[in-house]
Amino acid sequence: MGKRYCRLNVCFQDNIFSIMRHTCVIEKYIGFCETDFGARLITKEAEYLRNELKGRRKILDVGCGIGAFEQRLPELNIIGVDMSKEMIETARARTTSPYCLADATRLPFIDASFDALFYVTSLEFMDNYKSVIDEAVRVLARGGKLVAMVLNQESDYFKAHYSKRDSYFRRIKHKNPVEMADYIRRRFDVQTQYFLGIDAEKIFDTKNKRYASLFIIKGIKK
Ligand SMILES: C[S@@+](CC[C@H](N)C(=O)[O-])C[C@H]1O[C@@H](n2cnc3c(N)ncnc32)[C@H](O)[C@@H]1O
Repeated sequence: MGKRYCRLNVCFQDNIFSIMRHTCVIEKYIGFCETDFGARLITKEAEYLRNELKGRRKILDVGCGIGAFEQRLPELNIIGVDMSKEMIETARARTTSPYCLADATRLPFIDASFDALFYVTSLEFMDNYKSVIDEAVRVLARGGKLVAMVLNQESDYFKAHYSKRDSYFRRIKHKNPVEMADYIRRRFDVQTQYFLGIDAEKIFDTKNKRYASLFIIKGIKK
């Protein structure tokens, strides 16, 4: 009994520490979003999405985090999904959009129920991107649009951040966005592009992969 209590206690402590670490990550990210640089960066990404998603009636944001895009795109009908309870609670406290706590590989929506879906720096952090894409194929209607904005790991911006010991970028699971694009191409007509140049705190338009912080994969479901 004593031993069992001890094990449960350790388990409970592990859980508390993991929640504390997670809360710390969220606070750090909120802090980043509120800096001038962070706000300009997210606004640029949101402008890109606004343009790509206009006219789409029902949109899913997979790995929505704290709801940064729901906050900036209130005119779009977006449902945010994330597997982290803390992220979803934070998103709900910050915006009035609908959110759903769920794993991207098991979405609680019926087949063909969305006409657009996006991932912003989330697909590359998910365990099995192929299962995530298979699930996107299931919930998207024919002609539905997928937009995946993934970190360009060849950029100076990525390399500089990755070199820091406590960087969130180190949690990345998939290192090859071109392979991701090839998998998406099986079920979508795909276009790719580099986007969003960053040099120190300067943000600019570029297609140069040394400066582009993002690699974008856009697809229309066949
Ligand atoms: C780097 S954050 C990006 C958040 C948001 N898209 C943004 O740009 O502000 C990645 C997010 O993906 C979520 N995530 C990771 N794996 C997931 C999965 N299998 N299903 C749903 N969400 C997941 C994480 O909890 C995290 O909130």
